[in-house]
Amino acid sequence: MMTETGTLFLHPDRNLAMELVRATEAAAIRAVPFIGKGDKNGADGAAVDAMRKFLGTVDFDGVVVIGEGEKDKAPMLFNGEHVGTGNGPACDIAVDPIDGTSLTAAGRQNALSMIAVSDRGSMLDASMVFYMQKIVTGAEGRGIIDIRKPIAENIRALAKAKGKPVSEIVVAVLDRPRHAEFIDEIRSTGAGTRLMLDGDVAGGINAALYGTRIDMCAGIGGSPEGVATACAIKALGGVIQTILYPQTDEERQKGTDAGLLFDHVYDADTLVRSDNTFFVATGVTDGGLVNGVRRLGPIIRTESIVLRSHSGTIRRVSADHLAEKWLDA
Ligand code: FBP
Repeated sequence: MMTETGTLFLHPDRNLAMELVRATEAAAIRAVPFIGKGDKNGADGAAVDAMRKFLGTVDFDGVVVIGEGEKDKAPMLFNGEHVGTGNGPACDIAVDPIDGTSLTAAGRQNALSMIAVSDRGSMLDASMVFYMQKIVTGAEGRGIIDIRKPIAENIRALAKAKGKPVSEIVVAVLDRPRHAEFIDEIRSTGAGTRLMLDGDVAGGINAALYGTRIDMCAGIGGSPEGVATACAIKALGGVIQTILYPQTDEERQKGTDAGLLFDHVYDADTLVRSDNTFFVATGVTDGGLVNGVRRLGPIIRTESIVLRSHSGTIRRVSADHLAEKWLDA
């Protein structure tokens, strides 16, 4: 395919995900000394540093659409930064060196390092609006879930589609005061909740994966995390619907100026306008999606999930790294 300027546009291919997983593994390994040490900035800094270093060795021409924030606040992996060697496919990239920095600092479960990639120009840049309302399910929710409807209705419809009683439906929700009423509504149907301290990317993926105890992930969470989740959902064949949730008039204005739509349902195809997406995540601490980094004598073991939408493949990658190679590299 040619771009408007006439240059050849390469699509990211299957090898890219296996290259990217090296960067999330590195970020997770470097975050380990900070687990449970109460220093979330230290943990994030170490993970950012490691991820950026590894991304610099990958043959692709990535532009960070979702990163650590604006350039003046984030010295590395800032929105708009070019990553990769510059050779190879032109991509948009979303990075979260640690989703769950507070979890890591506290030594809690479910922190992971993640990267999502799609064709250049396809990821929605929603960085100016911090939160979005989200609902995520597996494939059974297709044509059934509607984020504009009350959560109770969506739960009942999903239970019917899954052929199980509502009392067996489990909804993952971030444990926040803003969700108090929402949680009551969920429970009033007879469904159960899994209250997450942090990390709604993992919550969304768990809702769309087969064989987990989560049927749905819903509520208000970070917009960047919503776009990254969409890259994963495309590989899982599930459903994601979101509505931007501005906190202030200023946020709404900034979003409007950037062409974002409010009171509008963004789904997987409008959050990421490409059917060629990759998502990789490596566990920092143990979680429902992937185990965290383990030290086994001379070995550091990492566990990752690698998703590719084009083929609809879900891979679990376990890697053993010789610890001595990581001492001061
Ligand atoms: P960070 O680790 O990057 O801070 O994000 C954690 C997280 O829980 C996200 O998974 C989630 O989308 C967002 O924060 C929710 O924001 P808030 O903590 O303000 O409710």
